[in-house]
Amino acid sequence: PERKAGEEQPRAAPARAPAQPSAVEEGDARVPQRPPPTLPPSKPKPARGLCLHGKPLGKGRSCKRSSGHRSGENGYQRPVTVDSSKARTSLDALKISIRQLKWKEFPFGRRLPCDIYWHGVSFHDNDIFSGQVNKFPGMTEMVRKITLSRAVRTMQNLFPEEYNFYPRSWILPDEFQLFVAQVRMVKDDDPSWKPTFIVKPDGGCQGDGIYLIKDPSDIRLAGTLQSRPAVVQEYICKPLLIDKLKFDIRLYVLLKSLDPLEIYIAKDGLSRFCTEPYQEPTPKNLHHIFMHLTNYSLNIHSGNFVHSDSASTGSKRTFSSILCRLSSKGVDIKKVWSDIISLVIKTVIALTPELKVFYQSDIPTGRPGPTCFQILGFDILLMKNLKPILLEVNANPSMRIEHEHELSPGVFENVPSLVDEEVKVAVIRDTLRLMDPLKKKRENQSQQLEKTFAGKEDALDGELTSAPDGSANPEAHLPSICLKQVFPKYAKQFNYLRLVDRMANLFIRFLGIKGTMKLGPTGFRTFIRNCKLSSSSLSMAAVDILYIDITRRWNSMTLDQRDSGMCLQAFVEAFFFLAQRKFKMLPLHEQVASLIDLCEYHLSLLDEKRLGCARGIPSGGRPAHRGTPQESSPSAQPAGDNCANKLSHPRHTLS
Ligand SMILES: Nc1ncnc2c1ncn2[C@@H]1O[C@H](COP(=O)(O)OP(=O)(O)O)[C@@H](O)[C@H]1O
Ligand SMILES: [Mg+2]
Repeated sequence: PERKAGEEQPRAAPARAPAQPSAVEEGDARVPQRPPPTLPPSKPKPARGLCLHGKPLGKGRSCKRSSGHRSGENGYQRPVTVDSSKARTSLDALKISIRQLKWKEFPFGRRLPCDIYWHGVSFHDNDIFSGQVNKFPGMTEMVRKITLSRAVRTMQNLFPEEYNFYPRSWILPDEFQLFVAQVRMVKDDDPSWKPTFIVKPDGGCQGDGIYLIKDPSDIRLAGTLQSRPAVVQEYICKPLLIDKLKFDIRLYVLLKSLDPLEIYIAKDGLSRFCTEPYQEPTPKNLHHIFMHLTNYSLNIHSGNFVHSDSASTGSKRTFSSILCRLSSKGVDIKKVWSDIISLVIKTVIALTPELKVFYQSDIPTGRPGPTCFQILGFDILLMKNLKPILLEVNANPSMRIEHEHELSPGVFENVPSLVDEEVKVAVIRDTLRLMDPLKKKRENQSQQLEKTFAGKEDALDGELTSAPDGSANPEAHLPSICLKQVFPKYAKQFNYLRLVDRMANLFIRFLGIKGTMKLGPTGFRTFIRNCKLSSSSLSMAAVDILYIDITRRWNSMTLDQRDSGMCLQAFVEAFFFLAQRKFKMLPLHEQVASLIDLCEYHLSLLDEKRLGCARGIPSGGRPAHRGTPQESSPSAQPAGDNCANKLSHPRHTLS
């Protein structure tokens, strides 16, 4: 069926695509231009059906205000400016959000810089040199099915238990033989094991090209595999059902900042339902997409699709309505929510190291450039036992607030979808509120006002909203923020997982020329030398061979011929190899942590030495370190802010 207004926008085509995305990847380009939406009155509707967090969202207080512009030191504070010219299918929800915030929209762009740029597809939708943009460079590439599977697998190698929320996956065509061999091995061990697998094309979305198989020999290898790489994954056969139907959760996650890492999760998401009662996969029902795939873009074409304006009925509902229902049946929804938070944080921790490499390449430190934030769409499946499973991450989750109504086969009209609007407008609006560049200034002003009015009788009662110049809290009329900070809030529980992140910092340090993403042989040698890793048993010749071996293999695998050299994943593999050699008896994550400690220690000595030289202080006077990490136990605290990385993870509920 034609997908003229699908649930997710297609992603970038080639792995590690060149910086500028091609027109093909901009799936929403086919969406016809519509007139601007009819804007709702500025007072938002109260949220419906929220029970998870107790308080209803719509706690709006009315306030009299002559205009959205507030007075500042010089009597006037300008509104935040947003360039929405590249917003594409998020435009409708964005317009409503800007209107609610009383900010200023520039729908056709602006000659002067704007505070915020809202892109529909990628960081590169427009050239920007200042302000904030809602996409990170490289995110599209990072969440492609193969890249995500690789990144999660690296974490699974280090922390298998912590990362068991992602189904076992193999990358095709590279790992086809491995897939066949591993399945055969398990089947030989346990003949009663009757698995099902799901094959997903790498750059696919909206369920496009996905199919289920019972046996590795069913993979459609015919010629196309090389041109269309894919991931084959264990199929979760026992999902939680509601009304006998399979459903998944689309959760919105805001990556507010990469360094320092800041993650927010939207308190409500969407649940997308299948439209045919679920049965566990059998050879007969494998091809029933309305039974097995929850994508809105597919199920909309089923005669059974129910469009509803109620948040708790129909084929698309709010996630909070699902939690309400589960709660009424006695399910511990706090535990479910806590497990979801944990899944989100761990997934972001898997993605961010490579994202940092992209970031420094596109926005080198010291050069003018925008700062980035991004709303990600997590697809999560709840298993029958309520364990959340990560299906995929979307860099451009659909922010459309319309429903496609099929008038006759293939002929659609767009009608407003209240459920989409309720969830998505809140996510966009509150993302903007969190990114508000003038917030600090405004807060200072309102503190000053508070002081001015302190002591005046009615000032307290009437709150600052009734201040004569109308300069009080400009958000007083809005519901409380729907995005909940989970990182750094829970940093202590998760920092120990950030080993690859620390490896990425080492990698970036040795990249040398700004703008590159791959480490050359000299950079790798310098890394080995500066970290004092060569020895009588690891000669520099052996280091060169290690570099060539691993780099060649990764470059042949990733089809990325942009620049030659060692990519981060290859560096990580080399690092694991070095760590295993040096710290033989420990579990892998301890070997790796010990080697990182060692490297960081030697580099910090080097930095101090250089700093000393620069200041003319003779070196050798200080280090405050308590001995090299080699001398201390593997669990010794590393220097600097990495101390937190070693804190173990007490398993209690996150809320
Ligand atoms: N491992 C899995 N087990 C069970 N169902 C899955 C699995 N992976 C995907 N699905 C189903 O297939 C749908 C599409 O998969 P997804 O990975 O989200 O790809 P797409 O980008 O095409 O949406 C999911 O929404 C879910 O219903
Ligand atoms: Mg999906």
